[in-house]
Amino acid sequence: MSVPIFLRISGPDFHGLKEGRGRMGKAPEKPVVTIVGGGMITQVQILPSIYQLQRLGTVGDINVTALNAAPLRVLDEDETLRRAFPGQKFAAHPDFREADPKAQFPELYKEVIERMPPRSIVFVAVPDQLHYPVVKFALEHDQHVATVKPLVLKYEQAVEIERIAYERGLFVGVEYHKRFDDRSLMARMAYRDGRFGEFKLGNARLLECWYYRHSNFQNWMTVENSDAFAYIGCHYIDLVHFITGLLPTAVSVYGIEEKYPNGKKGFFWTDGRVIWENGACLNVQNGLGYPDDAPGGNDQGMVLYGRGEDLGTLIIHSDQYRGVKHSYVKKGGDPGDTIYAEPNPDYFKLVNAGGKGLTAVGYGYRSIAAIISAACRIEKETAMLSGAKALAARRKLIKEIDGEGIIATPANSSYNELVMEAGRKSILAGGREVVIEYGDKPGVSFRKHRD
Ligand SMILES: NC(=O)c1ccc[n+]([C@@H]2O[C@H](COP(=O)([O-])OP(=O)(O)OC[C@H]3O[C@@H](n4cnc5c(N)ncnc54)[C@H](O)[C@@H]3O)[C@@H](O)[C@H]2O)c1
Repeated sequence: MSVPIFLRISGPDFHGLKEGRGRMGKAPEKPVVTIVGGGMITQVQILPSIYQLQRLGTVGDINVTALNAAPLRVLDEDETLRRAFPGQKFAAHPDFREADPKAQFPELYKEVIERMPPRSIVFVAVPDQLHYPVVKFALEHDQHVATVKPLVLKYEQAVEIERIAYERGLFVGVEYHKRFDDRSLMARMAYRDGRFGEFKLGNARLLECWYYRHSNFQNWMTVENSDAFAYIGCHYIDLVHFITGLLPTAVSVYGIEEKYPNGKKGFFWTDGRVIWENGACLNVQNGLGYPDDAPGGNDQGMVLYGRGEDLGTLIIHSDQYRGVKHSYVKKGGDPGDTIYAEPNPDYFKLVNAGGKGLTAVGYGYRSIAAIISAACRIEKETAMLSGAKALAARRKLIKEIDGEGIIATPANSSYNELVMEAGRKSILAGGREVVIEYGDKPGVSFRKHRD
């Protein structure tokens, strides 16, 4: 369907975009943020975090684009968001008030990005297999990028993104929010101070609720695109590296295939084994199978055993049950809501902490704030420079953030893409072990065995 572009992205909902094609010459004082993808994660974590940063004066206008109008209407009408951020709005592309509800706009994000002032921020929140083209398009149009995990599905794409971003002095941050859970930061510091010795054997699990099968997942988390290991296993694999600094060197994943309600097939249950460069082993179980009637939002946790000189060491993270038990007068209206609940106070909550509306708290917010602040810092600290000097200064800051290793970036976390490639190769081959090679030409291949 053809709707004149100005109907969709100008007028009262101009929201920091330039009318007509082409971009403004100078980065604005407060960056415009365009979120590409208006689904579940945008609703529960990204948009409220960006609203909070807008309230704090860190970012300016906000745009959200989606494949079609429906999810944008849901975001606009979300009662919790309205209560939390009264008077704050995003511009919807397509505009759900005028767009044909059945029409799809797969390329509209490009038009929106083309109209953003340079060196603003694009937040990528589309299905996994679309991250690569959207991230690349944003960089090629001089935008800093924040993206939900995984950055991309192929190692070579991560390297290409790292190169383009560095050439242009743009920041790319990958949103692995478990890193910003204080327990992860505590474990990382103690591990790196030598207090846990050397990691040897561990297990991690993350099972999302059963009802996820009925959501939009059934349209994209299908056997040919993704699986439970790729979708959620990456969190704990990233975390084990984040804590220990070890690199994964081999992966095998067994997947159990089932049908979604729409008839498409997905690997709903996965059991993965990750071997690390020191020979340590992590078993990772994932799935869309946590009972809707169970009291948490999911089931998750991690146990890492290690050894010191002459004793064992231990890190146990209970990441589902965090010491809070509630029993309500009746259950809420969302899928997975239960009368008796064990809510997670640490991930992301909107609480009344005084002041206007509600305040976003938790590691989900802190993680987004860290990425957005890094992009803003690069702009702020180089604002007085121009040309080659500005570029050199931006690159120096990018290298500094890469080197810290706290925010995941293409340069410091592309082992995740190698694990992703290895996991996909293994699961599609019934669980064969796939080896990760580093060095000059990193890549993955089946482990060769002698008879
Ligand atoms: N814990 C985490 O870090 C976490 C949790 C959930 C999701 N995610 C990631 O976030 C991403 C999205 O997940 P979700 O749960 O929100 O999915 P979802 O299916 O609910 O939403 C996807 C959104 O992308 C939009 N979209 C699809 N194609 C588009 C296009 N061409 N242009 C613009 N928008 C388009 C859809 O309209 C939809 O709004 C995935 O990559 C997922 O892995 C991460």
